[in-house]
Amino acid sequence: MAKKKKREIVGSVKNTLSLSKRILQKLKKKTKVKKNKNPFLKEKKKKNRFLKEKKKKVKKPKKKELKKLVPKKHLKTIKQQREVIKKILDKPKPKPKSKPQYIKTGIEGFDDLLEKGIPRGNTILIAGGAGSGKTIFCLQTMYNKAKKGHKCLYMSFEEPEERLKQHLRDFKMEPEKYIKKGLIKIQRFNPFDISRSVDALLTKAKGELLIDVEPVLLPSGFKPDFIFLDSLTAIASAFTGKEDSYRIYIEQLFRFFEQMDATTFLITETEQIPKIFSPTGVEEFLADGVVVLYNFKRGIRRENAIEILKLRGANHEKKIVTMQILPGIGIKVFPQQEIYGDFGGTPDIKIK
Ligand SMILES: Nc1ncnc2c1ncn2[C@@H]1O[C@H](COP(=O)(O)OP(=O)(O)OP(=O)(O)O)[C@@H](O)[C@H]1O
Ligand SMILES: [Mg+2]
Repeated sequence: MAKKKKREIVGSVKNTLSLSKRILQKLKKKTKVKKNKNPFLKEKKKKNRFLKEKKKKVKKPKKKELKKLVPKKHLKTIKQQREVIKKILDKPKPKPKSKPQYIKTGIEGFDDLLEKGIPRGNTILIAGGAGSGKTIFCLQTMYNKAKKGHKCLYMSFEEPEERLKQHLRDFKMEPEKYIKKGLIKIQRFNPFDISRSVDALLTKAKGELLIDVEPVLLPSGFKPDFIFLDSLTAIASAFTGKEDSYRIYIEQLFRFFEQMDATTFLITETEQIPKIFSPTGVEEFLADGVVVLYNFKRGIRRENAIEILKLRGANHEKKIVTMQILPGIGIKVFPQQEIYGDFGGTPDIKIK
């Protein structure tokens, strides 16, 4: 009996022991899972270990050691280079070059009316009455520029190419020489082609104000430094009855010339003594400059005169002076021969 009881007691103790062992094992497992479940802690430990090892490996070199690493002569050049770089960095940034460049026409006496010249890239109206010398003024300027190696485009909406070349020859200029060199290009355009193209473009753009005037105008593959357009009046007359289209076209044309890096001379035909200097009166506001050529009546004779009416960004004489169109020479301006008085009606002209 006592043996049986003893066996029972031993058995129950064993059971409790195995139970507690199992509980212990379970608890251990749980804590293990919890540890593994926190990857951040694991990563942090890893990182700390890595940093410790790195610190051990990389030692900050002392100044003395550095001197040993970089030879003395190199240290000197490094110092010098640093000084140069410092000087450059400390320097105030130079302002972008906005100084305008000026161009001369090469027409005798005319350039004397200008202090420095015509700012490069300007759009200038050459305004004047019939026979006042607008075409000759432009042809002569073009020839003078080509002689200096500049590329020039003469766009004629009035006279044919051959007639223009003949004008040049009449004044002892050799257009062929510079045409061959690729410096002069004289091209005739039909103003009605322009108005038709603009109409088509405007219809395509469905009334939008931005149209592409470039394909209507410039010969491809020729980037001129100077453009001469003879004349805006001829273009305007092709737009008769379509004044809105002309206005849109002309605004685009001026914007286009502005974007091109070319100095442009646009001829406009006016009254002999003009009050407005362009077909609509708007062009003279769009233009940077206006040069007026006069063919006024004095007694029973007509005489020529010239004036720089306006020129944005340049100083110039503000007087009307005598000009002559001389056979075999061309235009000659007399900056000292000032014209006084109202020569609109009965002239009251005194020449100094
Ligand atoms: N070979 C020449 N020799 C001398 N003078 C000339 C010669 N050719 C033209 N002229 C003068 O120049 C004037 C015409 O110059 P130009 O053709 O440049 O005038 P324009 O203002 O362009 O005229 P338009 O409005 O008719 O186009 C003539 O009226 C004439 O007096
Ligand atoms: Mg002309």
